[in-house]
Amino acid sequence: MASQLHSIKPKKNVVILISGRGSNMEVFLDASSRGLLDGAIVRVISNRPDAQGIVTAKQHGIATTVIDHKQFETRESFDAALADEVATANPDVIVLAGFMRILTPIFINQFLGKLVNIHPSLLPKYAGLNTHQRAIDAGDTEAGATVHYVTNELDGGPAILQARVPIVERETAKTLASKVLKVEHLIFPRAVNWHLQERVIFTELGAYLDGELLPSNGATWDPTHV
Ligand code: GRF
Repeated sequence: MASQLHSIKPKKNVVILISGRGSNMEVFLDASSRGLLDGAIVRVISNRPDAQGIVTAKQHGIATTVIDHKQFETRESFDAALADEVATANPDVIVLAGFMRILTPIFINQFLGKLVNIHPSLLPKYAGLNTHQRAIDAGDTEAGATVHYVTNELDGGPAILQARVPIVERETAKTLASKVLKVEHLIFPRAVNWHLQERVIFTELGAYLDGELLPSNGATWDPTHV
């Protein structure tokens, strides 16, 4: 009996940061309620009081906090308050699910190796905003999404998993965004599960998956991935 008890591992803690709609967050809530997330979502935090995702998280019975960045004079003072709130949840991973604030080293250094973001481009291409229009304007034939660890370089941390979608004739930023969002929803929980299972780890050299250093654009999404 005692040995059985010892073999039961406590669930890892997942904190999700959002700023808006929260469709990526919702995918995590759904995975969790279907027993497909290797951790417990312990808190959802928004920097915007009007974020739709906060309403959704509450409907799922998840603890929520709003820390309105407009109430802070500096980026650093907001980040310090956010870090205090996140730390109380004792996170194993902090999922940035459409969190639209640039984080400063005050926050990032405290949680380095536990911060995972999704970016709507084939990183290292198109860090920053307006990724879909930039890909179309450049004449690219493919776009996509990348899950990556967060470092102090904007959208520049080690990539974990990337999915591609074709850019077709007469593609607009809107049509492309909706195609990319669909693959975001597939790869984000998969990559976070790899982190929770300690299959993927962050190092200064890059992300390792199952002991192998991943290429700079991460693993390539394959629907048969487990
Ligand atoms: C996603 O496209 C994500 O890649 C980007 O912001 C959007 C957030 O969407 N960082 P949602 O709030 O998850 O619906």
